[in-house]
Amino acid sequence: MASKRIIVGITGASGAPYAVRLLHHLARADCETHLVASSLGRRLLADECGIKRLDPDTLTDGLGSRLTIHNENDLGGPLASGSFVHDGMIVVPCSGNTLSKVAYGLTDNQLQRAAMVTLKERRRLVLAHRETPLSLVEIEAMRAATLAGAVVMPLSPGFYLNPATIGDLVDFMVARMLDLVGVPHRIQPRWDEQLAAERAERLASAPRPTAS
Ligand SMILES: Cc1cc2nc3c(=O)[nH]c(=O)nc-3n(C[C@H](O)[C@H](O)[C@H](O)COP(=O)(O)O)c2cc1C
Repeated sequence: MASKRIIVGITGASGAPYAVRLLHHLARADCETHLVASSLGRRLLADECGIKRLDPDTLTDGLGSRLTIHNENDLGGPLASGSFVHDGMIVVPCSGNTLSKVAYGLTDNQLQRAAMVTLKERRRLVLAHRETPLSLVEIEAMRAATLAGAVVMPLSPGFYLNPATIGDLVDFMVARMLDLVGVPHRIQPRWDEQLAAERAERLASAPRPTAS
């Protein structure tokens, strides 16, 4: 039996690599994952990851039987109902558009409806938002979504683990997402004083990267 049942929503904000990496880790954690992507989300998957077709095997690096893909336009689909019991939904990346729709109860597609249902059923909803800078419109929407029970999680990775690659930065955020829905993982060491001191020591003796 799968360890957890998780819904992943992909919307049209920059940051599709976070979603692809999350799907990879969920499959490896033996989760039953349900994916719904908005049309702009699919466009960003193509632009940023070269993924032009949603295929379970491609999106899970060969563990496609653990991933079900749902149609964004099917407002009567399974994810639209509270009787679809699950352990959490992560919208990543979450656009300002979808953030605002969810915050104010608008459900124009199955992704937004699934998020609303997650809130009404008092299940975990993570909105991994990406936009900068923020307008008051988005700040107020974040407030409303938080008051309704969502966890608003800006996609802003920390640098204190001294990431060496973009993949390290992506995994930093994905690890936090998995923590929020209670899926165990071994992505990277968590904050540790000893580890940080060792890394800082290594960095001090290594040549400094330049911005140019
Ligand atoms: C290349 C590209 C990048 C975008 N990046 C962002 C972004 O980082 N954050 C955001 O809120 N919207 C971004 N947008 C705008 C959203 O895609 C747009 O608001 C859209 O209506 C979102 O629809 P959805 O929420 O249904 O996916 C981007 C659009 C394009 C075409």
